Amino acid sequence: MRGFCVNYGMTECEIFFIFIGNINYKNIMITKNIEINYNKYPLPDRKRHHTNPSYYIPIKELKFVPTGYPQVIKNINWKEYFANHKPPKQLDIGCGRGLFLLTLAENDKDSNILGIEVRQWCCDWLDNYIVNESIENCGILRYCVANGLDFISSDSINEIFYLFPDPWVKIRHRKRRAFNLDFLEEIYRVLVTDGKLYLATDIYEVHAYHLKTLKQFNRFCVKEVDNSANEWTLPPTNKELFCIKENIKYYKIIAKK
Ligand SMILES: C[S@@+](CC[C@H](N)C(=O)[O-])C[C@H]1O[C@@H](n2cnc3c(N)ncnc32)[C@H](O)[C@@H]1O
Repeated sequence: MRGFCVNYGMTECEIFFIFIGNINYKNIMITKNIEINYNKYPLPDRKRHHTNPSYYIPIKELKFVPTGYPQVIKNINWKEYFANHKPPKQLDIGCGRGLFLLTLAENDKDSNILGIEVRQWCCDWLDNYIVNESIENCGILRYCVANGLDFISSDSINEIFYLFPDPWVKIRHRKRRAFNLDFLEEIYRVLVTDGKLYLATDIYEVHAYHLKTLKQFNRFCVKEVDNSANEWTLPPTNKELFCIKENIKYYKIIAKK
C-alpha cells in the first residue's frame, strides 16, 4: 500500500483505513453486486464501446456541434431525475452499464446516487431499469462531464466515482479526457469536506496521468490503493469484473478533500 499527500502543506492529512466486503475472488476481496435479470431487461444487441468521439469534447472547443451531442446543463430540477425528489449525495461519472450504480443505490437507500453517462443506449437501458424497478434513490443523466458540473451545488456530494472512465488512451486523444485541472476544480468544489473521489483504471499511463494531475492540483489527500489489500469497500463495476475475469491488472486511487 502506497500513500502520499499531494497537498504537502497539509500536515494534518490523516491516513484513513477502509474495510472491505465479503467475497474473495481470485485473491481479490470484492463486495457483492445486485443480481440483474437480463432476461427481463435485455441489453441492446449492438453495443458500441464509444459513441461519437465529439460527444466527449467540451462544447466550447467544438467548431461544429453534432446532432445528438449531450445537452449542456447549467441548472437542474432533481424532481425530474429522482423519484424521491432529493438531490444526489453520490456521483458515478461514466457509469456505463451501471451495475455499480444500481448496487450502490440498493445498498444505501438513504443516499441518492446520480449516474452520468454520454452513451445514449446506457442511459436508456438504465432509465428503463430504474423506473420499472422503482429505485427511488437512483437517477441517470446523459451528459458530458467535460462541460463542468455547474448544476451540482458546492459542498453537497459525499463521494464521486470515476471508475474506468476514459476510453482515450492515446496521447493524441488526450484532449478528449475529461480528467484535467478544470475537472478537479469542479470535483473539489462539489465535494463536502472529507468527501472522496475514487478513481480506477486498467491503463497504467492513465493511472500515472491521474496521479500527476492530482499532484499538480495539490489540494487533495491522495492515496494509491493496492488491489490485494482490503482497502476498497466498493462493489465492482462491470469493467472491474471484466478485468478480474481476464486477469487484467488495474489501479485505484482515493483522493480525499
Ligand atoms: C469503460 S466504461 C466504464 C463504465 C463503468 N464505470 C465501469 O467501470 O464498468 C467508461 C464509460 O465512461 C463514459 N465516459 C467517458 N468520458 C465521459 C464523459 N466525459 N462524460 C460522461 N461519461 C463519460 C463512457 O461513455 C463509458 O460508458
